Amino acid sequence: MSENIVASDSFEAYLISHPFLGKPENLYNPMNYIMQLGGKRMRPKLLLLAYQSVNGHPGKDVYQLALSIEAFHNFSLLHDDIMDNAPIRRGKKTVHEEWNTATAILAGDNLLIQCYDLILKTSLPNKPELLNEFSIMATQVCEGQQMDMNLPTQEHITDEEYLQMIRLKTAVLPACALKMGALAANASMDRADVFYDFGLNLGMAFQLQDDFLDTFGSSEETGKQEGGDIIENKRTLLFLHAMRTLTGSDKEELLHWFNEKPDNPSNKIDRVRTLFKQAQSDQFLMNLKADFEMHALANIDIACENSSNKAHVLALFDLLKTRKA
Ligand code: IPE
Ligand code: IPE
Ligand code: MG
Ligand code: MG
Ligand code: MG
Repeated sequence: MSENIVASDSFEAYLISHPFLGKPENLYNPMNYIMQLGGKRMRPKLLLLAYQSVNGHPGKDVYQLALSIEAFHNFSLLHDDIMDNAPIRRGKKTVHEEWNTATAILAGDNLLIQCYDLILKTSLPNKPELLNEFSIMATQVCEGQQMDMNLPTQEHITDEEYLQMIRLKTAVLPACALKMGALAANASMDRADVFYDFGLNLGMAFQLQDDFLDTFGSSEETGKQEGGDIIENKRTLLFLHAMRTLTGSDKEELLHWFNEKPDNPSNKIDRVRTLFKQAQSDQFLMNLKADFEMHALANIDIACENSSNKAHVLALFDLLKTRKA
């Protein structure tokens, strides 16, 4: 098949035609509900792009790997939305709201199990290596999510600790997706590791943008509750930066809000946004994001050297840089 055909463009159709089947329905329906709600499909697209950058058009087994990566992402969202008390996701009710918490836990568990099953049932020769990469990543995501859960009550958090938390909860997944795509295409470990570094840097920028949009974005665009991190008292980099920049009553007010959970949070959200802007913490966050993007670009140059696919990788990268959702 021609290299000009971008495999990642056909992923959505593949996903829709491969639902999870089984009974009882109220276990499998929520799994397919979350999987088919849309979303950017960034991680499977990255896996397919990495494969295509190394070795031409991917076959069925590689789509199955990509589906496994998207299923893992959706598993993590089901449990994350319980942990973050999130009412909406992708513009629709979260699974624990539409069904209940027990169902969301089990549907998430089963999605995770199906990820392994999907990889196991490929006939790729380096399956053990792929499973190993996948397991390392999956454990790191759990570690990062626990660190995230620790944030609201943690006394002192350094920027580096925060960055390590988002590296684990978010960045290792796109990194692993890219590395698995490259390994499935029989890339050398050195080249696969450059894809991994690209994903790490991209993932860091991605989570910083997620933090920005959670605070300053609109619910219509993100499909998530506005100000969710503020409501949950998440001590993101915006908070850490504002706390060391503001002084006097402004600093006291910010700290006060992060120790409160008012029934109606709209005034809290307004005030915290204003204080963050006053401290120029939004600018601080965007500058840091730009640093990670610069490193990611350098990785793309090396990983996709001599590949006609590089333009497609850059196109996805540009879309993610400026995303509002
Ligand atoms: C949300 O990921 C979870 C984070 C790591 C921030 P996405 O923003 O990629 O969510 P979808 O899949 O596009 O909905
Ligand atoms: C999610 O981080 C990371 C994982 C799901 C592993 P967030 O909690 O910031 O993601 P959103 O904002 O709910 O999408
Ligand atoms: Mg979370
Ligand atoms: Mg969340
Ligand atoms: Mg978020």
